[in-house]
Amino acid sequence: MRDFPLFPDQASTFATQVDQLYFFLVALSLIFAGVLPFVILYLIVRYHRSQKVDRSNPVNSNLKLELTWTIIPLILVMLVFFWGAFLYVQIRTPPMRTLDVYVIGKQWMWHVQHPNGKRENNELHVPIGQPVKLIMTSQDVIHSFYIPAFRVKQDVLPGRYTVMWFQATKPGEYHLFCAEYCGTEHSLMIGRVVALPLADYERWLATPGPVILPDGSIDTGRPTVVASPGDPMAAAGAQLFTNLGCAGCHAMAGGGVGPSLKGLYGATEKLNDGSTVTADENYLRESILNPNAKIVAGYAPVMPSYQGQISEDQLNQLIAYIKSLADTGN
Ligand code: CUA
Repeated sequence: MRDFPLFPDQASTFATQVDQLYFFLVALSLIFAGVLPFVILYLIVRYHRSQKVDRSNPVNSNLKLELTWTIIPLILVMLVFFWGAFLYVQIRTPPMRTLDVYVIGKQWMWHVQHPNGKRENNELHVPIGQPVKLIMTSQDVIHSFYIPAFRVKQDVLPGRYTVMWFQATKPGEYHLFCAEYCGTEHSLMIGRVVALPLADYERWLATPGPVILPDGSIDTGRPTVVASPGDPMAAAGAQLFTNLGCAGCHAMAGGGVGPSLKGLYGATEKLNDGSTVTADENYLRESILNPNAKIVAGYAPVMPSYQGQISEDQLNQLIAYIKSLADTGN
């Protein structure tokens, strides 16, 4: 059976929980599919018109029986519903403190950038025992990031971020698939996830290596060895922030034409229509690409759009920079 695995490894904190629910559903289906046909067959034979059985007193209703076959299935499906909903909410809600990794899907490869600037293609290195959050977007069509051994799958869409999180539990190499048909080479849009003990992961993270960037150019391994993770990607964003002239309006001390971005990430922003919004990655993204969609209360809609002027890669760096200005420790 070793070479014919029916089930992938259980390598994340979700894996056993998802499997338990799955096996419960299979068992439930087997019980009903296995028992009911025999009951039907028995009744077909027993009450065939050739059989001499007592038909003088046909049953028109039986309240007890009807309640039984209503209440028992109701309990079973409600159990499945709440069990599934509980798991779903857990899988969809990343914890506050996570290791954030940026993923860009494109026809037909996965491009990954770590907070310290390290990049990789069709591979994702993660530490075990740490919650990891993937912030994902696509450069072209819809893809889907799927790690069977972690029991997580999430669509990756152009024009917005989707988020997925997991905590690996077992060192090893696992399959990475694109699970959404995305064109000719969809089936080749595969890779591997390497889960490492924390120390090995940190050593790997600090080792520079050449990599193909999303625009096709080759990154020959810029220095990535740094004291604190979170720096270089944010630093690239800070450089962009300066080059694009953002600081001209978004003065850190406040009082500029635009709001200060200090402490913005994760905060609740008041908008000029009276509503509020949580400043997450998608809000930051929208505010850069389509600044007039949500105007912070007290400011005028004067910011130009940066749609088409910066790549997905640069957008990720800008957002990493803005996130680094927050003091949530994220
Ligand atoms: Cu990307 Cu299928």
